[in-house]
Amino acid sequence: MLAQLGGRLPLKVFSYTICAWGGAWIVYYAFQECRRTFALRSRQRRFPLPRRTAENDAAWFGQANAQERKNIVGRFSPLKFLGRYLNVTPEWREQGLWEWMWWKVVHALIWNDGFGFDGGFSADTKTEEGRKRIETLLPVEPVDMAKLFGAPPEGSTYTWLGQSTCLIRMHGVTILTDPVFGTQPVKSFLSPVRMRPMPCTFLDLVRDGVLDIILVSHNHFDHLDLSIIPHVPRTTKWVVSRGMSTLLRKCGVPMENITELAWWEEAQLECTVAHDDTSVTRVVHITGLPASHWSARTLLDTNKSLWSSYAVRVNDQSAALPRASLFFCGDSGYSPDLFRSIGRMYGPFHLATIPIGSYEPRWHLSLQHMDPLGSVSVAEDIGAAQSFGMHWGTWCMSDERWDAPPADLALALAQKKLPCSYVKTVPLGQIQHVPLGA
Ligand SMILES: *[C@@H]1O[C@H](CO)[C@@H](O)[C@H](O)[C@H]1NC(C)=O
Ligand SMILES: *[C@@H]1O[C@H](CO)[C@@H](O)[C@H](O)[C@H]1NC(C)=O
Repeated sequence: MLAQLGGRLPLKVFSYTICAWGGAWIVYYAFQECRRTFALRSRQRRFPLPRRTAENDAAWFGQANAQERKNIVGRFSPLKFLGRYLNVTPEWREQGLWEWMWWKVVHALIWNDGFGFDGGFSADTKTEEGRKRIETLLPVEPVDMAKLFGAPPEGSTYTWLGQSTCLIRMHGVTILTDPVFGTQPVKSFLSPVRMRPMPCTFLDLVRDGVLDIILVSHNHFDHLDLSIIPHVPRTTKWVVSRGMSTLLRKCGVPMENITELAWWEEAQLECTVAHDDTSVTRVVHITGLPASHWSARTLLDTNKSLWSSYAVRVNDQSAALPRASLFFCGDSGYSPDLFRSIGRMYGPFHLATIPIGSYEPRWHLSLQHMDPLGSVSVAEDIGAAQSFGMHWGTWCMSDERWDAPPADLALALAQKKLPCSYVKTVPLGQIQHVPLGA
């Protein structure tokens, strides 16, 4: 009996379990793919997208009429299968866990000389030339909080803190995007380590400034660091993708402080901005927008919450200030139909923050992460006056070298005959003044 338990039986149980598990997944994926394919086909028939033509070219951005709005929203509204969200861009194909395992195990062993590839960063820290390249491409400046928060409550600034963590001020309203402040996305020897020190800590930020809004695109560990929660002031509002409040509430954020947005849903918040002993009221409009990605925090919650980009507008109550409009691009593959539609609905933007890293190998990652050519296309599609590249130079999680994103970005801009300042990479922590649109 004991021998049996210790020998044959567990093996049998184990192999049956694996087969049942694998089989169940294949059936699940097959049904999910059917659901997605049929839904997208029917949407394609029912909701034709507006096209940019010679007639509407001059009045393209932000000029969608009622019918076009209905079609765009219909085409790209959230889609669910058994309680989990799905992508709705035509480019998506099912990848499954096996494709990821092939990449991370087989592909990594053959093409990347094993696991733990760090984009060649640590090798560069060991040579004089490498260190010089790091200082040129990824300099770090401590954030000048007095300068940032002492500025008058008109105009806008952008400060990159690493990955997709950006500190954006528009007409005095402070927005922090996808907050991550740890050395690693997850505390584990398997998890990558930050290439460069952060230009400020979260405590510096809340001690010296006012944080009005924390905007979160999705729940992946490199976009949301829950350890900041105890230090977030009660006056800060969280704006997150649909389904994420469960996690935040578990970590102690009161429901009142959370606004959840599904794609195309809009929230209007009022923020009081203090300046020189007086205070003014600002109205902030935030719209959740689709992205081509996925979500997961644990093995069991895959896709239970949504992944998004956001359009944010800030003005005073009588809309008398110059137009301040931000596009915060979450993690996403490039989809011309989607981003052109966003431009038609909400463009133009005076400021866009767009991911430019984590894109190799393309056969696996092109669906979930755009490459710099895609990032430049996004900037054009949405009508961004000034864009900044983010989501690079922080953690190596893909197969390109750590310094490839800015080089590929320069190539993409040259290829499209655009000025090299059209999509910029900037030093960590350096405050960028961004001119507002008319
Ligand atoms: C999560 O969503 C992606 C995108 O639609 C899909 O390919 C994947 O199979 C989904 N995973 C699960 C477990 O539902
Ligand atoms: C956050 O919640 C607390 C208590 O639940 C409330 O007093 C505070 O006004 C809320 N803050 C925001 C910005 O909603």
